[in-house]
Amino acid sequence: MSYETILVETRGKVGLVTLNRPKALNALNAQVLADLLAAFRAFDADPAIAASVLTGSEKAFAAGADIKEMQSRDYVDMYVADAFAGWDDFARIRKPIIAAVAGYALGGGCELAMMCDFIIAGDNAKFGQPEITLGVMPGMGGSQRLTRFVGKSKAMDMVLTGRMMDAAEAERCGLVSRVVPADDLMAEALTAASRIAEFSLPAVMMAKEAVDRAYETTLSEGLRFERRLFHSMFALEDQKEGMAAFVEKRPARFLDR
Ligand code: HXC
Repeated sequence: MSYETILVETRGKVGLVTLNRPKALNALNAQVLADLLAAFRAFDADPAIAASVLTGSEKAFAAGADIKEMQSRDYVDMYVADAFAGWDDFARIRKPIIAAVAGYALGGGCELAMMCDFIIAGDNAKFGQPEITLGVMPGMGGSQRLTRFVGKSKAMDMVLTGRMMDAAEAERCGLVSRVVPADDLMAEALTAASRIAEFSLPAVMMAKEAVDRAYETTLSEGLRFERRLFHSMFALEDQKEGMAAFVEKRPARFLDR
């Protein structure tokens, strides 16, 4: 399948999607959303793929929603079309996605990175929610996901001042899981995805679902959800294999069932 705005490759069991609108610093428009949903839904449906990496260019992961596309829209149009609601579908992709962020991840770009399961940043990464400088505010989850990632004070700082934070600050405040030299970013992200791909796919998918649940529910309901999934894993052949392999001091051979 060919795409207009992204490049799609596979590396063994890992899918690699690269945002590819270099002239617009990978600004996100309707076509980018359509392409990303098609690519990641295809990975979800492909038993040969276990995890994936989403990245941009060395200069920009994505510099936000496409300002030129949004500029002339009016309220009724935005409301009736439920503009940007389609991005919620991206957050429903079921296999893990690592965001590998180099350069700018601004506005919708930062929000897209936060919709992935975790973010590995190159040391040149810059994150921000600069919508306030355009006379608007975040609209793809920035006011909600960023606040859950970094807490109220820093989220308010970012959303109200529109300033950028560098990779070191992003790691300090929990927005990104690791910072690596920009030259090592893709190797590090692909290695992490390959590591995930070695494990039992149903166990990985349930673990992702359980962590995501923490954002949607109370602690007691989240703990109940976790325990139900944990108990259900004892129906997996991979649980028997993983634990037998440990006891027998040999590598596990997971069958994804
Ligand atoms: C459309 C964009 C763009 C964007 C950059 N470009 N960001 N086009 N939408 N978000 C285009 C520029 O217009 C320019 O095109 C080309 O990409 C290169 O950008 P420059 O500005 O020349 O590059 P540079 O000077 O290096 O500055 C980089 C930058 C700056 C700091 C990232 O481009 C910038 O501030 N971009 C906007 C960031 C932003 O405000 N993002 C939030 C968007 S709103 P030409 O044709 O002139 O060469 C948003 C809302 C999300 O994301 C919620 C939706 C509901």
